[in-house]
Amino acid sequence: MTETTVLAAVRQFSQSKMGDDETGHGFDHIQRVVGLADRISQSYPAADHLETLTAAYLHDVIDEKLVDNTAVASEEVRQFLIDQGFTSVQVDAIFLIMDNMSYHKTLDGTAKPLPLEGQIVQDADRLDAIGAIGISRAIYFGGHFGEKIYDPAVKPRTEMTHAEYRNLDNETIINHFYEKLLTLKDLMNTTAAKQLAEHRQQVMLDFLAEYKAEWNAEA
Ligand code: ADP
Ligand code: NI
Repeated sequence: MTETTVLAAVRQFSQSKMGDDETGHGFDHIQRVVGLADRISQSYPAADHLETLTAAYLHDVIDEKLVDNTAVASEEVRQFLIDQGFTSVQVDAIFLIMDNMSYHKTLDGTAKPLPLEGQIVQDADRLDAIGAIGISRAIYFGGHFGEKIYDPAVKPRTEMTHAEYRNLDNETIINHFYEKLLTLKDLMNTTAAKQLAEHRQQVMLDFLAEYKAEWNAEA
């Protein structure tokens, strides 16, 4: 089977699993991550293209938010990949990427080091959380979970006193930018992604400045 044929099957599989998710994990997110991973990988000929794009297509398929039983879902993905002709070494590499690319694992230090292919997919996933798309996803996600858009009293955790931190009962969407989204630029693995992140960062900073100016009737 050619790479194109295999990727078409992987794409089909991913689409059938992702569907119209309501928390920002829909297949549209997957398509953007694949597109970005493809673009970034052009700067890294050493990266295995099929492995990179397959991991990009499947990276959210085993998410707890989407499936009831992650062990069953993992087994189904593994069998699907074997059926497509992936070797067990390739399957293990794809699972290593999927299991270790989350922001959460990076933060708490439990993530295993990612191979180049995984670094590219992780960067692509993070790029899709920032910039104009990132702004819209954060608002969509926050709305879905009933978060307030903005509360000037809610400050980033790093700027809070201990007492303020203990009283924190609600995250706001604007605060999510300070807590996470604005930090992603410096977490990019590849130079190609860092360059794309610079512009997206400025888009978010401009949005936040404008938002606060309008909030205060200053603009
Ligand atoms: P992924 O697994 O694709 O990295 P996440 O599950 O972390 O994505 O989040 C999906 C989207 O929702 C992202 O764009 C993220 O920034 C946004 N998001 C996550 N948590 C919050 C939150 N507390 N408030 C607003 N947006 C959020
Ligand atoms: Ni994702």
